[in-house]
Amino acid sequence: MVSVVTPTYNEADNVGPLVDALNEALGDLPHEIIVVDDDSPDRTWEVAGAIADADPRVRVVRRFDNHGLSPAVMAGLGAARGEVLAVIDADLQHDEAILPEMVRRVRDGEADLVVGSRATDGGSYGEWGAGRRVVSWVATLIARLFLRVPTTDPMSGYFALSKATFDEMAPHINPQGFKILLEFIGRRRHRLRVAEVGFTFRNRVAGETKMSPSVIRSYLLAVVELWVGRQVKGQFVLYSLVGASGVVVNLVAFALVESLDFGAISVGFGRPLRWSLLVGIQVSIVWNFLLNNYFTFWERRFRGRSLVVGLVLFELVSALGVIVHVSVFQFLESTNWGDRALGEDAARIAHDGVGFLVALVSNYYLNVNYLWGRRNSV
Ligand code: GDD
Ligand code: MN
Repeated sequence: MVSVVTPTYNEADNVGPLVDALNEALGDLPHEIIVVDDDSPDRTWEVAGAIADADPRVRVVRRFDNHGLSPAVMAGLGAARGEVLAVIDADLQHDEAILPEMVRRVRDGEADLVVGSRATDGGSYGEWGAGRRVVSWVATLIARLFLRVPTTDPMSGYFALSKATFDEMAPHINPQGFKILLEFIGRRRHRLRVAEVGFTFRNRVAGETKMSPSVIRSYLLAVVELWVGRQVKGQFVLYSLVGASGVVVNLVAFALVESLDFGAISVGFGRPLRWSLLVGIQVSIVWNFLLNNYFTFWERRFRGRSLVVGLVLFELVSALGVIVHVSVFQFLESTNWGDRALGEDAARIAHDGVGFLVALVSNYYLNVNYLWGRRNSV
């Protein structure tokens, strides 16, 4: 069976003609049509409900919260029963005549996802003016450049995919705004096999578009989000957040001990080591260990007795960081960097902070690959 999901918001005049057009285009192909309406003020849900009463192939989902095109599409896909799923706008702008060909390609395993494209052979933006064409061209170029999406029309709201693909990817989709297709094809980890079928974008006859500059803005944000998500791992973001809190803890401990004025210990070579530096480092090591254990690396955390083992290991791993930290600090102290601008005391705190940051990065590698690496998983 084919499940056709169509999101609606104030499409009362379009939903009837759409259902007729889909039934006509799909012919004998067993199918269901799922209208997902966000409680439209024009009562699209009611019109669709009356159609569903007369046609068992039609179902209506009326939603009341988390308003929006993408979440509506996800709700419809999630409720679908077919082995091939399709999404089409309700306003008749997408040409339903190519739907059987899109479905066939998914069903025959030629692709995981098929895009109804306005920019490929046989496709066109129809009667769009120069302005809209340029906006669409630029947005498409950006998505292709940054995400290398394998489609000529990443902003299309018309596509078909296999149920298996949907089931696998759905938990990773972040449904916001109009960018739903981008969410499916913009990820590197799930590289889908994408095919295209061209169609001519029709003009809207009834109702109004919900497209707006804010939709374009959120589309651009989505591109950036997907792109950034590939450059840095979420784990490093968490680790950095913990590190940032560690800087604060380190600086507070450092400043506190400085104010108690224990001075420095001479270890026999070079410049004497300040107690404040050593205490600050030790306090932040414990702090960072606990936070990383219970936050960054929660799935692989040390528990119970092994917590002590973990801390000892963390101290060892951090030893490298401590050497880096101390070296950077001693070096900056020797250059008197910032002394004149900040005063000697504040400059010393700044030297400590820089040392911490450099050490933070050098430690990350060891922490991820060794300490909370797979071998230690519980
Ligand atoms: N349930 C629900 N909730 N449906 C919505 C919402 C919403 O918040 N916003 C829009 N829709 C429905 C509309 O009723 C219509 O069926 C479809 O989504 C597309 O909305 P339009 O407002 O007609 O968008 P458009 O034609 O300007 O935008 C087209 O081009 C965009 C970019 O090129 C569509 O094909 C979009 O999918 C596409 O992203
Ligand atoms: Mn439209």
